[in-house]
Amino acid sequence: MKALVLSGGSGTRLRPFSYSMPKQLIPIANKPVLEHVLENIRALGVTEIGIIVGGWATEIADVLGDGSRLGVRITYIPQEKPLGLAHCVTLARPFLGDDDFVMYLGDNMLPDGIESIAADFRAARPAAQVVVHKVLDPRAFGVAELDVDGNVERLVEKPEQPLSDLALIGVYFFTPAIHRAVGAISPSARGELEITDAIQWLLTAGSEVKASEYSGYWKDTGRAEDVLDCNRQLLADLRPGVFGETDAASELDEGVRIEPGARVLRSRIEGPVVVGSGTVIEDSHIGPNTSIGRDCTLRGTQVSESIVMDGATISQVPGLQGSLIGRNATVGTTPEQDPHHRLVVGDHTRIEVAA
Ligand code: G1P
Repeated sequence: MKALVLSGGSGTRLRPFSYSMPKQLIPIANKPVLEHVLENIRALGVTEIGIIVGGWATEIADVLGDGSRLGVRITYIPQEKPLGLAHCVTLARPFLGDDDFVMYLGDNMLPDGIESIAADFRAARPAAQVVVHKVLDPRAFGVAELDVDGNVERLVEKPEQPLSDLALIGVYFFTPAIHRAVGAISPSARGELEITDAIQWLLTAGSEVKASEYSGYWKDTGRAEDVLDCNRQLLADLRPGVFGETDAASELDEGVRIEPGARVLRSRIEGPVVVGSGTVIEDSHIGPNTSIGRDCTLRGTQVSESIVMDGATISQVPGLQGSLIGRNATVGTTPEQDPHHRLVVGDHTRIEVAA
């Protein structure tokens, strides 16, 4: 079995971050979303991975390389325009050949793993097997209608009046039967070749399509709130350990990971928290549920429920919470007696200041 990871999308809901990086490289628990995805795929014993890339191809290849660091072999497949998930399958045909494959949206997190679903697919080999999850509002998703035995009866992309609460959550298993289906469908109202329509084509043609419910934690990391929620979830399973330097005046909880080369002085770290290498934390209170990237400087600061990305500097800010701070960003206070907020704010940035 091979894997096809889709990482071409633009990520407008994650502006301003998606102006300077693909959303699939946003760090969650100090690791890019795409690395979490590749680890989940490798856990299935699948190591031949094709990644569909768009405008951010160089940045993605800079981080993942040929995949050897993660124990996989990556083939990059360029997509010039985002013409839909089924279009990606067409582009990947030379890479996929006639192998079965798992298709995985590169911004979807399923940290509880999909091993048992993959085992079901390998045992029964239906033409397609979709992964579904109960959601409160299915109208934003592809929706699966099942019979009592879990066979898929119908799939509808973003229905206005959903007949089921089971959403497709970005992981699909296919036999080569999907290639005829993606060649047979036409673009949807949004101008894309929908994978949902291709699977529905298989159903109409009489092929077997199965659904497996994933009941673990799932997140499409499309918005800042989702990224922070997912960070909190992943930090709960963090492998703690202090590999950097701490002084006697600092107090660290058990669920804290300090990477080599990080320094913590006169500070309280309330886990779960991860601190990246090269970062300096002084006279601060960090955590809980906070990831601090590499080479950051935090002084006299209190930050919780947040992600601070590589190279950021935060000085003398006492109450940061639920924040996403970008790479090399600077957050500080104005000189004494100056009552103003001075902001240099990029496009589509969101700032909330205590009144
Ligand atoms: C895509 C699929 C949809 C699926 C969703 C999962 O939607 O078309 O069927 O439920 O991913 O995240 P999109 O994100 O392209 O709107």
